[in-house]
This record gives sequence, C-alpha cells and structure tokens, in this order.
Amino acid sequence: MCGIVGYIGGREAYPILIKGLKRLEYRGYDSAGLALIDHSESLNVYKAKGKVSDLENAVEKNDTTGNIGIAHTRWATHGEPCQANAHPHYSASETLALIHNGIIENYASLKENLQERGYEFKSNTDTEVLVQLIEYFKNTETKDLLTAVQLALREVIGAYAIAVLDKNQPNLIIAARKSSPLVVGIGEDDFFLASDATPIVEYTDKVVYLNDEEIAVLKKGEKLKVVNLYNEEITAKEQIVKLNIGQLEKGGFPHFMLKEIYDQPECIRDCMRGRINMEGTNVILSAIIDHKERLLNARRFIIVACGTSWHAALIGKHLIESFCRIPVSVEYASEFRYSDPVVSSEDVVFAISQSGETADTLAAIELAKSKGAFIYGICNAVGSSIPRATHTGSYIHVGPEIGVASTKAFTGQVTVLAILALSLAKEKQLISQNDLEIILKELLIIPDKMAALLQKNAEIANLSAIFTYATNFIYLGRGYCYPVALEGALKLKEISYIHAEGYPAAEMKHGPIALIDAEMPVVVIATQNGMYEKMLSNIQEIKARKGKVIAFVTEGDNVISQIADYCIELPETIECLDPLITSIPLQLLAYHIAACKGKNVDQPRNLAKSVTVE
Ligand code: M6R
Repeated sequence: MCGIVGYIGGREAYPILIKGLKRLEYRGYDSAGLALIDHSESLNVYKAKGKVSDLENAVEKNDTTGNIGIAHTRWATHGEPCQANAHPHYSASETLALIHNGIIENYASLKENLQERGYEFKSNTDTEVLVQLIEYFKNTETKDLLTAVQLALREVIGAYAIAVLDKNQPNLIIAARKSSPLVVGIGEDDFFLASDATPIVEYTDKVVYLNDEEIAVLKKGEKLKVVNLYNEEITAKEQIVKLNIGQLEKGGFPHFMLKEIYDQPECIRDCMRGRINMEGTNVILSAIIDHKERLLNARRFIIVACGTSWHAALIGKHLIESFCRIPVSVEYASEFRYSDPVVSSEDVVFAISQSGETADTLAAIELAKSKGAFIYGICNAVGSSIPRATHTGSYIHVGPEIGVASTKAFTGQVTVLAILALSLAKEKQLISQNDLEIILKELLIIPDKMAALLQKNAEIANLSAIFTYATNFIYLGRGYCYPVALEGALKLKEISYIHAEGYPAAEMKHGPIALIDAEMPVVVIATQNGMYEKMLSNIQEIKARKGKVIAFVTEGDNVISQIADYCIELPETIECLDPLITSIPLQLLAYHIAACKGKNVDQPRNLAKSVTVE
C-alpha cells in the first residue's frame, strides 16, 4: 500500500526521500512522487507513473535542492495509476502539497461542496479533495497550516496518514494519522517521517508512533509537538527501534523472497529463544503467564486474520483444539467485521498479522473489543498498530519481511501458535511432561531440519523449470497440511500469476477431480503421518486420471516415489509440526516458477505488503 517518507532538517532532503521510497518499495505501488521546498522557497512537485527509478529519471534535470520534503509511493484506490493521480497533490493555488495513505470515504460529498465553491480538480483521487479542503480552510478561517489541517480532518470520514507542506511556512511539515500507519523519527536536529521505521533506522533509532487522530508538528529547530484534532497537546512516547540495515538488505540473494526463505532456520531459532529452554523440558509464553486466568477460562477462542496469516490461523486451530481442548473458530477479518458476530467477554480473540497494519484485522479487533472480548495479537512488525490495539500478545520475532509474498512470517506464526498451544496445554495439565518434552525437543531441532531441506533448493529449481508451461495447479494436503496446501497455492498465485487452488485432498472427489487431465500438475503433501494411507489413495485417484503428481514425502519413502511423477524427500518430523517443514519446499517451488517466468518476485503486480485499506 502507499508509502510515505518525509524529511526536515539541515541535510539535503532529496537523497533521503528517494532512499526512503526505495526502502518502502516492498509495500507495493504503481507510481511515485515527491515535493521539495527549495532554498529559494519555491514548492516543487515531481511525479511519475511506475517505479521510484522512473521518478528519479523524471526529475534528473530539475532542481532537487532543499532541506524539507515529502515523498510517496501510491497504490491506486481512487483513479488509475498515472502521473496525474500520483501524489503529492498541489492545492489550487499550488502553495500546499500533500501526500496521503488511506481512503477518504466521504470524498464525493466533500468534493461536491468544494466544486460548488469554485474548486477544480486535476485528478480522480480522494487525496486531492483533502488538500483543497485544507486550502479552503486556510483561505477562509485561518492562515495557520496546523489549524487548517485540524479543521479539514474533522470533516473527514475514513483512513489517513498524511504529510503536508506549505511554501509559506517553509520550516514546517504537518503530519497526521488515523487508521493508516505513520512514524516520526527524531534525529539530532532533524525529523524523519515514514509509514514504518525502515526508511528511518539508517539515521536514528528514536521514534514516535503516532496514534489515531494525532497530528505531528515537525518544525525546524524545535522539539516534536503532537496535538489532537482540537489542538490539545499530547505527550509523545519516544521508543527505540531495534532494526539494523543488514536486516533490510538482500545479503547476496537475487530476491528478498529467496533470502527470507533461507532466513527461516535462524528466524525460528529467534522466535523460540527465551520461550523454550535449551533442554527442551519447559515452555513459557509471557503473555500466558500474565493473563492466565483470562485465557484458561475462555469460553472459546476466535482467530481473525487475512491471507497467509489466516492459513497460519487454521493450523493454530488444529494445534489449540488438539492440545488444549478449547473450541477455536477461524475467521477472515474482512468477513468477521461485517458479520454481526456473536462475541462476548468470555471469548478471547487472537489477531494474527505480519505487518500489524492490516485494516480489516484492525477493524475486527475494534469490533471484538467493543463486545468485551480479550484481544491477543500475534504480530511481526514491532510497534505497529495491531500490537498497540490489543490487550496482550506475542511477537513472532522473525525480523522485517520485505518480499510481498509472506514466507518466514508464516513459519514464525505457526511456531508461536505451537508454543501457545503447548503452554496452555501445560497450564491446563492436559499434556504429560513426557509428551511435552517430545514436542519441545523436536521444535528445537526444526531449524536444523529446515536448513537440511534448504539443500534441496537446486532439485526444486530444476523441477520448477518443467512447470513454467502450466496455467493451473492443484495443491492437496490433509490435517495439519491442508492449510499448507492453501498457502502453497497462494504463494504460486501471488508471484507467478498461475491459477492455483488448495484443497483438502479428500474433497477432490466432490468436484475438483473433474479438472484433472494429463496437463494438470497436482502438488501433494504426503508425509508419513496419520493421514499417509489416505493420501496414498488420493494420489492413486489422480494418477488414474493421468494428472502430473509432484509429491513431497518423508525421507526414505519408497512407495509414493513409485507412483508420483516427481518426488521430493523432506526431513521427518512429528505430525503437528509438519507445516514447519512442508511449507518451505512449496515456497521454493513458487519462487522458482515465478523467477523462471521472469516475474517481479518481490513486488508482484497489484499486491501490497501492508494492506492498510479495506
Ligand atoms: O500483514 P498481514 O499478515 O496482516 O497480511 C495479511 C495478508 O495481506 C498477507 O498475508 C498476504 O496474503 C500476503 N501477500 C501473502 O503472501
């Protein structure tokens, strides 16, 4: 989704803005732009359709000097991706420039009112309405930019993170947020602004995350001031971000996605650190200790999430129901928020999100909170909106995920869900010490097994090259691996644009089997677990219809290798941890097919990393 960067201070703003936009490229976008107030105090706006590099080419021969500027990558919502719709937008008099992430829901009525007052619009965006509205208040009610922004935002219904420049106040950036993320970085004698901390960490580790309806006043030579829409001052809570630049670079890999797939052994170690003791005899999740009564006495759990996080939630349901005997329902956050759900104060709602910014998940949390539920977040991005909106939670600690297709966040989420289920089962005395230790010891060696299976990368790459012809894929799994099949299919769709469907294997015969012919690749997860024999029959059914079976099996399996067209052997693990092993080769399969087809693996078309609008 849209990315915001801003700078005000003593340095040249342009290189900071461009670098910042590049750091935010992973969010997904289709055009880019920036505004600078130069040393002679003119306000220059430059925009281009396409990538940040297209913007750089477009501004090459122009004046890019100035110590104050704002920049933006746009992910189209209102109006097609084109130069006119790209941000920043000028106000009518071209004295103001504004960038925006979010959606102004009542833009049509605001626009109509402004048009009646003679305002004309150059774009189809909701954003241009906001900058004109601010200018309207500046012309009619106040000369002060902050007051005009406050008056305008009081009229707005919707979501926004904005930054505004006024060429008549060249030492000032006004930034505000509601439902879309915005972070202020505090330097020695300068300020940085961004949608998340990634463009900021290079310059300072001191940040303030703005809350809803807060406005940051960034003025050269002054301290950060935060006020609300009614100009009441708010004490800004400074935090230290623990991110290093190395975590944001590709580290020799051709794509972030491949790097992040390879990061998984280390990430899963980080995720377990301090939660499972080295001997594998004990498990502790601090949120469970702190809120034991609330969690143990819950009537039921509801998990809300979207996309990959929703797939992890399905595995979480299986783990929690098996080990803790607590009923769990898994809901798409986008459906839950509009479904008038039956939720009470006896329920615990878990919200799973990599970015911690997904608009639908945030709205689902607010709804559940309003009904009295206790909210537990499972997130990756530290300090993001969801951890701040929940009562408690656990970070997955897998580090920044830059590739749009989620990989290490998925295995991190599954790991935290396994730890959560085991901790609760221990507290409820539903698991024997012996059984607990078997699983914990296995969890501790999962990173080594992940590292071993990554050795199969070349084998999977060769296999992938065979299937670039395909226009459809079917993925099958059962039990714990049914959500893995869904996730494998989503990965392929997202980055290779090949249509793929995940199914519980036994559902095949209720319809999808009609699709099987000699052209159809069918990916089957058939590891040695309680469902093995059933999977074997499902494979026979596909082979009987000449489907091309690509099977992922447990090391040493010499039965399926006789039947399947292609077979990849994976390290053995216990059934409930199977997703941590089986999801990785499916990530690699999708990656290599997309890379072979020459697709933009890290920034697939139409997709955004942080889905901050509904
Ligand atoms: O940041 P979140 O986990 O809340 O994001 C949810 C989905 O948008 C996300 O998982 C999406 O499906 C990914 N692109 C999957 O690879």
